[in-house]
Amino acid sequence: MKYTSSTTEVPDAPQVPRHVAMIMDGNGRWATKRFLPRVAGHVKGVEAVRNVVEACINRGIEYLTLFAFSSENWRRPEEEVSLLMRLFMTALEREVSKMHANNIRLRVVGDLTRFDDKLRTMIANAERKTANNTSLTVTICANYGGRWDVMQAVGKMVAAHPGATDFSEEQLAPHLAMAYAPEPDLFIRTGGEQRISNFLLWQLAYTELFFTDTYWPDFSIERLDEAIASYQHRERRFGRTGAQLAEKKN
Ligand code: IPE
Ligand code: IPE
Ligand code: MG
Repeated sequence: MKYTSSTTEVPDAPQVPRHVAMIMDGNGRWATKRFLPRVAGHVKGVEAVRNVVEACINRGIEYLTLFAFSSENWRRPEEEVSLLMRLFMTALEREVSKMHANNIRLRVVGDLTRFDDKLRTMIANAERKTANNTSLTVTICANYGGRWDVMQAVGKMVAAHPGATDFSEEQLAPHLAMAYAPEPDLFIRTGGEQRISNFLLWQLAYTELFFTDTYWPDFSIERLDEAIASYQHRERRFGRTGAQLAEKKN
């Protein structure tokens, strides 16, 4: 697929979002509210992922991108970090065959060099196994940071054009970690915070943003549909005027 950049040409504004990107936040608070350890929230969060993936397929969404672990999440207590890593491995072990059976393509993006060999091998195997699947592309952002992504893309771009000093957006974009996907149409953040937390900084340039107070483990299909309905009421102008859009429709 050709990567189109929302700042260099006006992209389509599909009725059903092609690409939904989510910050799954609030697992810890969900657990704390119930006097449970934070990890219980992360465990419950995996279940919510399962439901959302299924709903996305049914709604004809093509790309679902989930922020699972940020480059800043290493700042958490060691115990929570290692529990999250273990949970990630268990989820891969349990879910990949099911995903494959459901024709889902799995991608994991982020700086994977910081993960241990076993996890990296599991990721590579899962990606290889599901590479040709066509129903929904699920991308897990793990040890991902928007700034890391831009910087690694700059490095690759410079290496691809030896001696060049002047670059365009079109030269950078193919090196971004998610160059295989269109830019997200809809961004959803659960857990009540209204910030990007170093998620897809470049790609969210013209994405419609939706924030909900619902904690991630409670995120339901109803909430997803609420976000999609909100998206469908937005006027995506990409810099143009409302009158220009109305003219195009007629
Ligand atoms: C999101 O939930 C999951 C990860 C960041 C791994 P949190 O763990 O951030 O939950 P809160 O924000 O503390 O409630
Ligand atoms: C963002 O949540 C990252 C993930 C959901 C993986 P955080 O909980 O880390 O974000 P901040 O620290 O509240 O901004
Ligand atoms: Mg959080």
